[in-house]
Amino acid sequence: MPIRQPSLTPPFTVVRVSHVALGVRDLAASRAFYVDCLGYLVTEATADALYLRGIEERNHHSVVLQKSPEPLALAVGFKVASEEDLDRAAFWFGRKGLPVSFPDIPFQGRTLRTADVTGLPVDFYFRMDAAECMLQRYAVHRGARIQRIDHANCFTPDVQASHDFYNDIGFRTTEYTETEDGTGLWAVWMHRKGNVHDLAFTNGSGPRLHHVGVWTSTPLDILNICDVMATSGFLANMERGPGRHGISNAFFLYVRDPDGHRVELFTSDYLTADPDHVPIRWSLRDPQRQTLWGHPAPKSWFEEGSAFPGVGVRAPVLAAQPIVAR
Ligand SMILES: [Fe+2]
Repeated sequence: MPIRQPSLTPPFTVVRVSHVALGVRDLAASRAFYVDCLGYLVTEATADALYLRGIEERNHHSVVLQKSPEPLALAVGFKVASEEDLDRAAFWFGRKGLPVSFPDIPFQGRTLRTADVTGLPVDFYFRMDAAECMLQRYAVHRGARIQRIDHANCFTPDVQASHDFYNDIGFRTTEYTETEDGTGLWAVWMHRKGNVHDLAFTNGSGPRLHHVGVWTSTPLDILNICDVMATSGFLANMERGPGRHGISNAFFLYVRDPDGHRVELFTSDYLTADPDHVPIRWSLRDPQRQTLWGHPAPKSWFEEGSAFPGVGVRAPVLAAQPIVAR
């Protein structure tokens, strides 16, 4: 099996995926989508950025929308367990010959900016400014009533290399997809926080951000946002679903923001905290892998993603064909 045994004593401790930063061309259009439609809360609005959070989140932001001349993914951020873990992480990445810098990031403490083995930019930090938890302020909940960030999913040109890299720093695998003959790893779902994933990798031209996954309380919140989007000018922004994934068992809807960045509304996966949790294998050609109800994903889902600034995108090393909707 291409999945490694988990590293239960990693070189530093990552708590969870924390946030994504996205470059967007029109902050007003982005606000209409993320805040007025989806129901994100605005923690801070500056002249060139919006800092958003879900209704249960106590950290300042889980989505940063930064004004940009072109759509870009800017960062995938992870919270670590202590300031000392930041130093341990910097040492580990430096020893691998990977970039190490500590840029000043608004509303965050010391932040390590580095990149993984494929060049995917990743940030690690411990402290972030606090924000009020709005979970029980029901009167202000809107749209999909997004509670929190759940995961990031990225295209990688080498799923096996990405898996091996994150396995080494303590991410544990919950589910994976292989080619039918078992000769290639096509996708992998890996976690730190105890559900199906904090980070997933999909075979494709990369590294690119595929989507940010955000948690809703129930599938009814996702059905409701379908009705809201369909009647508020965002019909064309609904890309895939709603549906039930075979992988992860999650109820989902994929939407595209005004710049094409993809957001997955996601709920109903399961607990994976046991250290001896056995990963689930899926065959790439299993029709229930993508959607338990058998509906394949559209072509755009396999091809379109958000590039990172200055990061070269490479074709995948694995040539394999998923099931694609006509
Ligand atoms: Fe996802």
